[in-house]
Amino acid sequence: MNKIAPSILAADFGQLKNELKDVEAAGADYIHFDVMDGAFVPNISFGLPVLQSIAPSISIPIDVHLMIDAPERYIDAYATAGADIITIHQEATNHLHSALQQIKNAGCKAGVAINPATPVHTLDAIIQDIDLLLIMTINPGFGGQSLIRETVKKIAQANDLATRANRQIEIEVDGGITKETIADCAAAGANVFVAGSAIFQSSDRKKAVEELRLAAGS
Ligand code: DX5
Ligand code: ZN
Repeated sequence: MNKIAPSILAADFGQLKNELKDVEAAGADYIHFDVMDGAFVPNISFGLPVLQSIAPSISIPIDVHLMIDAPERYIDAYATAGADIITIHQEATNHLHSALQQIKNAGCKAGVAINPATPVHTLDAIIQDIDLLLIMTINPGFGGQSLIRETVKKIAQANDLATRANRQIEIEVDGGITKETIADCAAAGANVFVAGSAIFQSSDRKKAVEELRLAAGS
């Protein structure tokens, strides 16, 4: 079953709670919460205080994407603030294995994201510890970019890695996901689709979610 995860990076922050209600009512499966630190990525977004204030009013799982250096410093705080899934970047920590245990010990599902230039095989030794593998289909830092075509083959490689390891994990894609690009990602084996602009720039969010779901094939 495919999941649609609206990225609130593209929402109107002046009325964030309404925006969240709107996408929940539109049938979103996760809320994708993009945290940027201005160091791991060249942009700063929002962090813990925002998560703390919105989490009580969200009834679907909150998928926190930490685009920050040394994410192990903040894992426990994001779990306490209401994260259900915490995804950290392979490139952002020297201690991926222990950081993933920290996420699980905090009661969350553990995700690993890889940037476009990072090969899937860098996760060979850690696949047993991963609940979700996020293939970045853009360079992280900004919404509204175009999907980098070369990243689509990495989705199939991620799927192969999980199958060989006998792991039922979620394969998520993030960046440039639209009704035009989603089908190729679904065909390659992704099942969680992050979409910022494609949902929040549409005045009819229900229609936007439905169109994505339809184009993905379920
Ligand atoms: C970018 C973020 C994405 C972003 C996607 O670094 O991780 O989640 O919001 O935005 P769109 O869907 O507009 O490419
Ligand atoms: Zn993201």
